[in-house]
Amino acid sequence: MGSSRAHVVLLGPPGAGKGTQAGMLSRHLEVPHISTGDILRDEVQRGSELGIKAKGLMDKGELVPDDVMVGIVRDRIAGADCAEGFILDGFPRSVPQAVGLEKLNGVIPSLLAVSLAVPLDEVVERLGQRRTCQGCKAMFHETLNPPKVAGVCDRCGATLYQREDDQKDVIEARLEVYQRETSPLLSFYRQRGALVEVDGTGSANEVFQRLVDGLGAGA
Ligand code: AP5
Repeated sequence: MGSSRAHVVLLGPPGAGKGTQAGMLSRHLEVPHISTGDILRDEVQRGSELGIKAKGLMDKGELVPDDVMVGIVRDRIAGADCAEGFILDGFPRSVPQAVGLEKLNGVIPSLLAVSLAVPLDEVVERLGQRRTCQGCKAMFHETLNPPKVAGVCDRCGATLYQREDDQKDVIEARLEVYQRETSPLLSFYRQRGALVEVDGTGSANEVFQRLVDGLGAGA
C-alpha cells in the first residue's frame, strides 16, 4: 500500500480495538489518526458548546447528529497533514455519515474499510478493564496490559481514568446503537468492494499483522 492508498476507515463494535489499531497503522503508514471520539472528548473537556451537547449524548451511548459529525470530519480532513491520507477511527458510524464522506471528497477510489470482528463478551470485558491516559490518550487494560504504576501512564506520566461511557449500562446502549446504526456499513462497503474483514481477537500485535496483510500494507 503506497501513500496514495492510505485512506482507511476502521469499523467494529465499541472495544473492538479500533483506536489501538488506528494508532499503530497511523505510525506505520505515516498518515494522521483521526478519532471522532477523541475530538468530541476534547470538546467536552474544553466545555465548548459542541462539547456540552455531545456530552449528554455520549454519556448515554447515543450518537452525535450526523450533520455535526460530517462537518467535523470535513474540516479535519481538509488539513494539509491529510493530503497523503488518513485513518478514520469511529467515523463513519451510520450510512448517512458514509454517504456524507463520499459527498465531501468524491468517492475516494483507494478508500478501504476494515471491519474488526471481536465476540460480544470479549468487547464488554475489554471496555470494563480499559483505562485511558488523560494526557496522551494511551490505553491500558487493567489485567492484560496494566501500567507499570497503577493509575499512571507509562508513556507520559499523566493520570489514567475510566471513561464515563465504559460503565456497564452505557456499554450495553453503545452495543445496541452499533448493531442498529453502524453494522449496516459492512454491507455498504462490501457492495463497493472496499471491505477488509479482520479477526480482531488475539494480541494487538497479532491483529495488526492481520490488518496490514489484509490491506496489503506490509509490516
Ligand atoms: P468512540 O470513542 O469512537 O468509542 P467506540 O467506537 O465506542 O470505541 P471505543 O473507543 O470504546 O473502542 P475501540 O474499538 O477504539 O477499542 P480500543 O482500541 O479503545 O466514541 C465514543 C462516543 O462518541 C460514541 O458513543 C458517540 O456518542 C460519540 N461519537 C464518536 N464518533 C461518532 C460519530 N462518528 N457519530 C456520532 N457519534 C460519535 O480498545 C478497547 C480496550 O481493549 C482497551 O483497553 C485496549 O487496550 C484493549 N485492547 C485493544 N486491542 C486489544 C487486543 N487485541 N486484545 C486485548 N485487549 C485489547
